[in-house]
This record gives sequence, structure tokens and C-alpha cells, in this order.
Amino acid sequence: MAWLLGGSAVMLPAVGLGVPGLVAAVTGRRVDTVGKVAFTHRLRLPPLAPSRVDGRGRRVFELAIRAGRTEFTPGRPSATWGVNGAFLGPTLRARRGETVLIHVRNQVGEATSLHWHGMHLPPAMDGGPHQMIAPGALWSPTWMVDQPAATLWYHPHLHGSTARHLYRGVAGMFLVDDPDDAVTASLPHAYGVDDIPLIVQDRRFTGGVMPTDEDMAGTTGFLGDELLVNGVRGPYLDVTTERVRLRLLNGSNARVYNFRFSDNRSFHQIASDGGLLPTAHTTESIQLSPGERAEIVVAVEPGERVVLRSQDPATGSGFVQHDGGSDRFDVLQLRAARTPAPSPRVPAHLAELPLPPAESAARTRRFELAEHRINGRHMDLGRIDFPVRLDSTEIWHVRSGDGTLHSFHVHDVQFRVLSVNGGKPPPELSGRKDTVLLPPGTDMRLIMRFTDHADPNRPYMYHCHMLYHEDQGMMGQFVVLGPGQRTGRPPHPAEHAHGEQTRPG
Ligand code: C2O
Ligand code: CU
Ligand code: CU
Repeated sequence: MAWLLGGSAVMLPAVGLGVPGLVAAVTGRRVDTVGKVAFTHRLRLPPLAPSRVDGRGRRVFELAIRAGRTEFTPGRPSATWGVNGAFLGPTLRARRGETVLIHVRNQVGEATSLHWHGMHLPPAMDGGPHQMIAPGALWSPTWMVDQPAATLWYHPHLHGSTARHLYRGVAGMFLVDDPDDAVTASLPHAYGVDDIPLIVQDRRFTGGVMPTDEDMAGTTGFLGDELLVNGVRGPYLDVTTERVRLRLLNGSNARVYNFRFSDNRSFHQIASDGGLLPTAHTTESIQLSPGERAEIVVAVEPGERVVLRSQDPATGSGFVQHDGGSDRFDVLQLRAARTPAPSPRVPAHLAELPLPPAESAARTRRFELAEHRINGRHMDLGRIDFPVRLDSTEIWHVRSGDGTLHSFHVHDVQFRVLSVNGGKPPPELSGRKDTVLLPPGTDMRLIMRFTDHADPNRPYMYHCHMLYHEDQGMMGQFVVLGPGQRTGRPPHPAEHAHGEQTRPG
């Protein structure tokens, strides 16, 4: 392991525990790669997915989920999965108002699915466990992109095995652009130049090879002891402009990152999961749990080197050794050019995002996450947990109730955080969100509006995005009902082996 200068793990003594027998049980390995990563590999940029516009004006993409071999370490291939490649997938890009048609071919010899995380779209196009793609089959979802500019992503979403399929490498970004967005021109926006996607994932390597049969189980799920950024170990990025926009995606199974720079410089957070924040948020750190995204703009000095790190994630549990709360990582080295090209200043005001008043909600629902269940129930593909009404606003009061770390993700909508433990949400939660971290004992009130896509028979999912928890059943389903509609029945689980094929119209 040439790139790693020292060992990557040290033992953390379990102090302060009164019962000696418990010591061994709760002593985890503390991972600390700070100062030990050599940054010898140039960051890889996911290619932009090619597309064409068909006779009906639809932007058409061709994707193939396939198996391949990836040399994370030169000369040591790992058996991985990817989309149109051996590991991870291309970046899809579409404009608000455009209709996309995406041909997804499954070439991995195992049923899987592809979900568009963060997208507002009809449930039949969502790519969840009701839209399985059989081995060899083609699935062709189509919908009109209608939401503000945002950094979204895609990943498999099959019942019980999402953790494994994502770990193997099936994931990529989906960028939504909004041509009417006046502020875009004053933000770095040249893909691969000053606008850089960063997919951060933790993995484990043995002799330079990434085994893909790792056990995905754990308190929160699988935790690796090394990071990949866009599939690269020990990456560096040449920064050629005064300011660079980093689109951070936590594409990990269970690990929470708290990103900051090695010199604690401040930067601007400009966007969260669903798009721009109301105002640029000046901060020194940004925490992301699995599935969450943030866009930041950071300034560099000519010729300098600075390292993006992750340390001290506020996991809030008493068992930090088991949820990665005490781990530290070197993530990515930024190498600034001697004469960087000028960049515009980040505007203070970014988007008009009035918070919907709590009084506008038709109802409040409560969700308690505990013991791999939500409100005491495991996921059942054949059960619709509840319907919501089209064009209604609801408050979902979510709570982590069992002393472990959870998160909450809702399909179809971007919600807003009304309160965290009864108080005002912090600036990083002031914009559009689809996933939030719920440390033990935390409760949040989320407000959301259900528009456009009523379907009494096809559900959307809500779940913990710690993938092991999700796979264990910490997930539920809701349908959106139009006027006069009543809750229908999802296709019988037995039909899922074959999948429900959506044909291009
Ligand atoms: Cu990122 Cu239901 O998923
Ligand atoms: Cu999702
Ligand atoms: Cu959970």
C-alpha cells in the first residue's frame, strides 16, 4: 500500500466503563488517517453522461449496470460494479422543464434497481423496490424534471440488498440545472473545472483489493477504514481558479462525515440536498450523513496545498467506536495553481425560500425510529403505511428513539426543517432537504408538500438511510391520492422478481 504511509487504525481504550466484561464488547477500532494519506492519485472526474434529444423532445440517456474490474491499487484489480463503467457511474445532467427518458439495462446477472434520490417524479419512475430490473432486462423511466437546480444522485434500492449493491459501486450524480436561476452565473459552474462532484465513500481493502462480500451488518452498518473519492484512493485535485465549488455527496453505507479543511479555513455552503440555501452560510465545517449532499465554495491561495478532512462528526451516541464518531480521515488534497484564474465572489443572497408556516399543514404524523423499525413496524412491500392527499402540506415529526444513530429520508419531496428538538434549525438545515441525520434522542419537525404525481397503487418510500437499517426493514411506504382516489394495492411481492417494466411511451 504505497500511498498509505502508516497504519490506518489504532486501538481506542474504552475508558470509564464500570463493567469490565463490557470493555471488550464496546472497544472498537478508532480509524485515523490524518497525515497518513500520500495523495498520489489524481482525482477522477465522473464523465458527463452523453444524451440525445429524441423526436418528442425528450433527453435520452443510456445506462448499463454492469460488473467490471477496478484497479484502486495499480496492478491489483477488484471485482466491482458500476454504471457504464467498472465503478460508479456517469453524471447525468438535465434542465428544469426537460423531459428525460433513461434506458437502464441490468447486466449484472442479479435483479437490482436504480433510484433517483431527491427527484420529484411519479412513483412508477422512482426506481425503488417496486421497480426491480430483472437480469438482462431494460427499464426505461421517463418524467419531466421540475424542481430547482440541485445535486441529486442515483443508486440501487432493492429490498434487503441496497447496502451490498451500493457498496459494489453502483452510484452516480444527477445534476439538475435551472436556466432561469439568475444566481448560477455568479457561482462557479464549469463542470470539472471549478465545479467538482465529490462522491465520498468508505471502504475496506485487503492487500490493495476491495472485497465486495464484506458483512454489511453493524450498529449503524458497515464502516470502512479508508476513503474513496469518486472511486480514487488518496486523491488530489488541481485547483485552477481562485474559488472552487465542491458538490459533496456522502455515498457511504453508514458513515457520517464532518468535513473541514486542515487549516480550519472558513468556506461558504451554498446548497443542501434540494438546491440553494436562502443565503450563503459561512462555516468551517459541514456534516453529512449517508445520502446527504452539500455544495460548498472554497477560496484558495496561489500555489498552496490544503487538505479536506473529516473529523468529529456529532453522532451523539455513547458508542462512538461503533458509529465512527471518533474516526478522522484525510479526504482530498487541493493543489492550487500558481496563478489561479479569477472567480466571482459568492453572492450573499442565493434563493427565495420562504418557510411554509406550520399552520398550513393539514396534519402532523409521528415517526419513531427504533430497533430496525419505524413506529414498531418492519417494511412490508405489500403494505401501504398511509396515504397522503395530493396538494396537501404535512408535518412529519421524526424521532430517533433507541439510542443509536438513524436518519430519515423521504422520496418524491424536498422538505424543510421546521424545528430541531423544538428549536430553530441551524443554517445548514435552512434549505431544501430530503435526508436528515437523527442522533439519539433527536426529534425534528419536517414540513413538506405533495404535488403532481398521484398514484393510489404505487408507493413512495420513507426510511432510515443507514443502509443496513434500511435493508433490515427500517422503511415504510406511502401513496399520494388524487381527488376521489382511495388507497390501492402495490403489486404482490412475488411479482417483484420479474419487475414491473416501464416501457417508453
Ligand atoms: Cu437514497 Cu430511498 O434512497
Ligand atoms: Cu431516495
Ligand atoms: Cu437507522
